[in-house]
Amino acid sequence: MSRDIEMECSEDIRDNEGGGHKHSSHPSHPSDGDAGVWLGIDVGGTSIKGAIVDLGIGGLTRQVLTERTPPTATPGDVVAAIRRIAAAMQWTGPVGVALPGMISGSSLRHAPNLCPSWGQADALTSLRAPNGGNAVLINDADAVGLAELAYGDAGLNGSGLTIVLTFGTGIGSALLYNGDLIADSELGGLSGARGRFEEVASGRSISTESLTAVEWAGRAQPFFDELQAILNPSRWVVGGGLSDDFEKFASELELATPISAARGGVHAGIVGAAVAACGASMGAGNPLSP
Ligand code: BGC
Repeated sequence: MSRDIEMECSEDIRDNEGGGHKHSSHPSHPSDGDAGVWLGIDVGGTSIKGAIVDLGIGGLTRQVLTERTPPTATPGDVVAAIRRIAAAMQWTGPVGVALPGMISGSSLRHAPNLCPSWGQADALTSLRAPNGGNAVLINDADAVGLAELAYGDAGLNGSGLTIVLTFGTGIGSALLYNGDLIADSELGGLSGARGRFEEVASGRSISTESLTAVEWAGRAQPFFDELQAILNPSRWVVGGGLSDDFEKFASELELATPISAARGGVHAGIVGAAVAACGASMGAGNPLSP
């Protein structure tokens, strides 16, 4: 299977060095051509999920394989999990890997839901070759943004600013401006009266504190209000675990601009990781390069 993929998408995947607030172009829409299938992995603070993605339609071809992420999971543990997922899928080619933090050279910054060793200087080195081939690394919320650009309405020219917010273990963000991804935004780190929004209004807060939709909206509304006031988006997209229950929670918000669930739902990060990997190999450039 991976032989075909390597032939279609080429074997030369360049390192995807994130870091810095780069203004970047998204890869050419994979749905425009015969982009084939790729393995996308979404590493979260709670679980590591992987699936083979058909980039022609932006959907998963088979079931999602999931492994738990223990709080002590090191980069080496995650590499081992990725290897197991790839082996179970009989996948020997390159992979796209979405990570819950900011990729800065070979370390992962702003990753409070992973153990501290991810911040070390060479933490990401082994992840770039988890399967004996190269891998493209991307922030998890930026991956959801890439999937929206490729398969949702946000990729349409002239659509202004779309803010993608992922509510899972943390709160991730991606800024999509007129069809481009502005990477590494980290908006979940903003604070309100109760503290950092990602600590009080994430998907994890909903489950650990058994928040009702109304209670969650009471905490999240100031976050949306603040972002509306300073960034003036024309559209919101919600991803992460909350997209599973999108109507129930989003209907409690009072917003001036439209809001929708990520087109790929809870699996949009997997789809975006695959888009990033294939986009890099197709010569559209590193999705996080200027
Ligand atoms: C990290 C972000 C990430 C988000 C969602 C936050 O804690 O700082 O980089 O996108 O969690 O996983």
